[in-house]
Amino acid sequence: MTGRVVVLGSLNVDLVTRVPRHPRPGETVLGEGLDRLAGGKGANQAVAAAAAGATVAMVGCVGDDAGGTAYRERLGTLGVDVGAVRVVPGVPSGHAMIQVSDDGENSIVVVPGANAQLDEREVAAVDDLGAGDVLLLQLEVPLRVVCVAARRAATRGARVVLNIAPYAALPPDVVALADPVVVNEHEMQALAESGARPGSVLVTFGGNGASWDGVTAPADVVDPADVVDTTGAGDAFCGTLAAALVRGEDREAALAAALSAGAEAVRRAGAQPHPYL
Ligand code: RIB
Repeated sequence: MTGRVVVLGSLNVDLVTRVPRHPRPGETVLGEGLDRLAGGKGANQAVAAAAAGATVAMVGCVGDDAGGTAYRERLGTLGVDVGAVRVVPGVPSGHAMIQVSDDGENSIVVVPGANAQLDEREVAAVDDLGAGDVLLLQLEVPLRVVCVAARRAATRGARVVLNIAPYAALPPDVVALADPVVVNEHEMQALAESGARPGSVLVTFGGNGASWDGVTAPADVVDPADVVDTTGAGDAFCGTLAAALVRGEDREAALAAALSAGAEAVRRAGAQPHPYL
């Protein structure tokens, strides 16, 4: 029997508009449309892991608003266990303001809302992890909680997969527990400068594939004309990677599966399949 993927992280309502190009500081551009979509790096990764066939639980917080209610229901429908998604009274759910340009590139501002309320209650949800399970983490929730969760999961024998995004410096002992740390090229640079030494490092290069401590894999070829929206492509990669790891796949196979999911993600609008909330 394969293990579980537990994702501790953010759930956001993504407010998305299309722009002809991204505004420069001080500039105004007109957007087209305003969509309300499911997002947040944590929940995006949980949905991707479930879509890849894993048994998945989400650990996080939403507000007691319409967005939070709809999001919990949505994850449940997609097969993600939401028993550890806490509803925080009187606090709005996390939101992200996202602009997507014609070439599919995005710019994002995250307003954490309820995601900032994660505390030791959420950490308790990782206590029943063990060997064969994966704890999947990103950095859109309080770093203190991420650190405690990583240490507890590792103590119990679970594998810790740490997507250091958005980049923040973490204690070296936490980085050392991660196998792998998943970073893009920019995050890799910052990680190298921090001096921390991960258990292993997986670097993604967008359309140029990925490398995991010397094991490299090419990306699926996507015609630039088919790139609709790059939002969440890295999350699809991480969630699919975690699912492959609990199945026991080796690095090469796990990379191939994750890269395919990332390529598929850029061909559709939004950070998740059928993302409307
Ligand atoms: O990685 C993409 C995600 O980043 C979006 O869904 C947005 O919510 C932000 O968290």
